[in-house]
Amino acid sequence: MKSFTAEKITEKVYWVGAIDWGVRDFHGYLTSRGSTYNAFLIIDEKVTLVDTVKKPFMKEMLARISSVIPIEKIDYIISNHSEMDHTGCLPDLIDLAKPEKVFASSMGKKALGRHFYFDEDVVTPVKNGESISLGESTMTFVETRMLHWPDSMVSYLDSEKMMFSQDGFGMHLASTERYDDQLPPQVLLEEAEKYFANILLPFSPMVTGLMKKLSELNLDIKLLCPDHGPIWRSDIAGILKRWENWALQKTSLKALIIYDTMWKSTGYLAEAICDGLASEGISTRVMPLDSAHRSDVATAVLESGALLVGSPTINGQMFPRVADVLTYMKGLKPKNLIGAVFGSYGWSGEATKDVEKYLEDMKIPLVAPSLKVNYVPSDDDLKKAREMGITVGIALKEKYSK
Ligand code: FEO
Repeated sequence: MKSFTAEKITEKVYWVGAIDWGVRDFHGYLTSRGSTYNAFLIIDEKVTLVDTVKKPFMKEMLARISSVIPIEKIDYIISNHSEMDHTGCLPDLIDLAKPEKVFASSMGKKALGRHFYFDEDVVTPVKNGESISLGESTMTFVETRMLHWPDSMVSYLDSEKMMFSQDGFGMHLASTERYDDQLPPQVLLEEAEKYFANILLPFSPMVTGLMKKLSELNLDIKLLCPDHGPIWRSDIAGILKRWENWALQKTSLKALIIYDTMWKSTGYLAEAICDGLASEGISTRVMPLDSAHRSDVATAVLESGALLVGSPTINGQMFPRVADVLTYMKGLKPKNLIGAVFGSYGWSGEATKDVEKYLEDMKIPLVAPSLKVNYVPSDDDLKKAREMGITVGIALKEKYSK
C-alpha cells in the first residue's frame, strides 16, 4: 500500500481519500463512473483529519496519510457525517491513531454511538456555529441536518478558506483529477445532477434553507471540498446556484415517459403518447424500464414537468420493475409534476389502478383519464394514446405559463 500518496491541496491541507473505480451500486443508485471517498489531512499544531473513507479502503487512506505524517500524529478527527462511506474505518483509525479528540455534531455523536458502540467520552459534540482552534487556523462547524442525515454538518477552515461539505455539492465520480476545472463540464453537470436527484431531492426544502444560511454567513470560500467527487475551485458559484435551482424543482417544459412491457403493447402506447407530446412541442424522453436504471429515471424526473407511467398487468398487479421505480421515486418526493397512466392487459387490468395510487400518493395530479388497452392496441387505441400525449402537452404548457 506504499504506492498511495497524499495530494497537496494547500500549504496546510492534503487530500488523503480513496478512489473506488469499481463501485456501481451505491445503496440502489447506479454509480456508472465509480466514486471517491474524500478525506482531508490538515497540518497545524493540532494535526486534524476531516472524515475517513469506506472501510475496504482504509489501507489506501492510511498510506496516503503516512506519506505526509505518521498516523499516530493525528490529534483530532472531525466526522462531518456518520454514514459508513465516511466513517467505516473510524473505529480502527481511533485505535491506531489514539487521537486526543473526535468531533461530531450532537446528532453525529448519537449516530456514531449506534454504529460503533463507542464509549460515551470518545466523541466530543460540537454545536452549530462553534469553532475550535487547530493552532494557526480555526475550524468552524455549521449543522446541516438532513443534508444528508440528521448528523450532517459542514466545517470551515478559515486560514485556507476551505469548506468541507461532506455529501454536499458532491457527486459519484472516480478520477485521478482532484478539481472541477480538470474534468469535462458536461460530466460534472450529469453526475452532480444525478447525485442531487438520488440523494438530496427528498430534502429539497432543507437545501433551500442551507443556501440561505450560507449566503447569510457570507463565508469566503475558495475551495469547496465534498466527500465525493472533485473539489470545487473554479465554479463554486455555479454548483451553489445549481443546487439552489434543483431544490426549487421548478416546472420545465419536458415530459418523461417510463414504462415496462411484456409483448410490446404498452411500448406501442408509449411511442404514440410520445408522438402526441412532441406534436405539442414538448421535449419528451422515453425510458423503457428493461434498460433504464431507477437512478437514471430519478435524474430524468428532476428535469421534467410531466411524468407518464405505463405498465402491463401481470398476475393482477403492475409489472415488478414499474413497482420498483415508483417505490424509489415515491421516497424521493419529486414536486411540481403532472401525470398520466397507461397500460395493456389481458383479462383483469389492475396495473393502471396500482400506478394511479402511487401517483396519487406522490401528489402528482392526473391530467388525462388513464388509458387501458386489452391485449394489443388497435389503430383507434393508438390514436387515443396520441391524444393523451397532446392533452398532457397542453396541460404542461398551461402550467408552465403560470
Ligand atoms: Fe456519502 Fe450520506 O454519505
